[in-house]
Amino acid sequence: MKIETRIEFVGLIASLVMAAACTPEPKGGAPSASAAKATASTSAAEEKMELPFDLGKMTIPEDNPQSEAKVKLGNQLFFDKRLSKDGTRSCYSCHLNEDGNGGKDPIAIGAEEKKLTRHSPVIWNVGYLGSHYWDGRAPSLEAQATGAWSGGNMGVGKENLEAKAKEIEKIDGYKKQFDAVFPGVGVTPDTIVKALSAYERTLVCDSTLYDKYAKGDAKAFNDEQKKGLDLFLGKAGCVNCHNPPFFSAAYGSKEGAYYNAGIGTKDKKEEEVDVGRFSVSKKDADWAAFKVPSLRNVSKSAPYFHDGSVAKLEDAVSLMAGGGIKNKNLSALLTEKNLTTDDIKAIVAFLGTLDCGKTLVEPELPK
Ligand code: HEC
Ligand code: HEC
Repeated sequence: MKIETRIEFVGLIASLVMAAACTPEPKGGAPSASAAKATASTSAAEEKMELPFDLGKMTIPEDNPQSEAKVKLGNQLFFDKRLSKDGTRSCYSCHLNEDGNGGKDPIAIGAEEKKLTRHSPVIWNVGYLGSHYWDGRAPSLEAQATGAWSGGNMGVGKENLEAKAKEIEKIDGYKKQFDAVFPGVGVTPDTIVKALSAYERTLVCDSTLYDKYAKGDAKAFNDEQKKGLDLFLGKAGCVNCHNPPFFSAAYGSKEGAYYNAGIGTKDKKEEEVDVGRFSVSKKDADWAAFKVPSLRNVSKSAPYFHDGSVAKLEDAVSLMAGGGIKNKNLSALLTEKNLTTDDIKAIVAFLGTLDCGKTLVEPELPK
């Protein structure tokens, strides 16, 4: 039942934004200046909609302030395979530029070639999220990085993090930087994770064509992109869950937003289904519900969904506009929207305006 309340809330925000009639306050310190941007502006005959574009202020943990030197160190660690158990994986191995900074494999393959259970998501703007992973089980970037590093992704194992930190400490270029950035502490599992997180907080995607358009540059969009945006906000109902400026309702609260779209339920016995958010909340309403992914950079990040089951963006859009995949817990917001092939094409064209146009920069690694 909780989830229905959430649906109403998100739906309400969306309609408020669309009607531009009101400026709701951001919830619980969540970084959402977006709503505040939706100020009223009425022209003679019709009400002009103002689109949110400002990502707002990122919340930085008090015990891990940003600094240039720390971010530089985190950037090196992010690209360094020596951080993994067997030297075969870096964080970057699964969050690749050529895949829009998500992963290439439908289901990620970790250190020692172990198959994981889910698809690597895009990590642009992760610093603005209150909860991480497809099921929101990690409450901070620091917790997420510890999970990725010790778990199957990098394969190190919780019990071996100290030993891995000692190995990193033996690399002179790292030792010097850690001593400078974390005086008196140096290289520890905690400082490694802090540096990685500080770097991730710099991965901001906020200057897309959409942002230009939302700021008032009407020429930034062609007619098809405009049509796609209208459908997205209107008939297709995408905005109910993928609301701007992040194009995901998950950024609007600390706990995130999760819905069941039926992905990964088809032709599966109930006990074989990845239960997603349910494993964290233990609420029936969250069974096989997954975090609403941001659609920023989505045109670059195939394949799609938490299980990487759809290879093309057109097909992912058709699936969502067609009402998802029927199962016992499908969100009531997902219904057949009766769109034409041209409508789908227009939405895809609009989604292309959310390209970040940026790449992660590979640094020189310390010796
Ligand atoms: C083997 C592939 C792989 C490697 C290596 C990897 N990741 Fe990931 N990453 C994933 C997958 C898969 C998920 C989603 C897992 C889930 O939701 O259960 C994920 C999720 C994330 C998220 C959560 C994004 C969100 O939407 O909340 C962040 C942040 C992240 N990874 C950063 C990192 C960092 C930092 C490292 C290095 C310490 C790393 N990843 C290494 C595959 C990988
Ligand atoms: C009820 C909320 C909801 C609505 C409405 C909705 N989506 Fe989604 N969308 C989700 C969730 C949740 C996922 C992730 C599902 C999963 O992987 O299990 C998702 C995933 C996606 C993805 C894949 C993104 C990726 O990185 O893998 C695309 C593309 C997408 N939606 C587009 C749309 C479009 C276009 C519409 C409108 C036609 C729409 N969605 C309507 C909740 C919604």
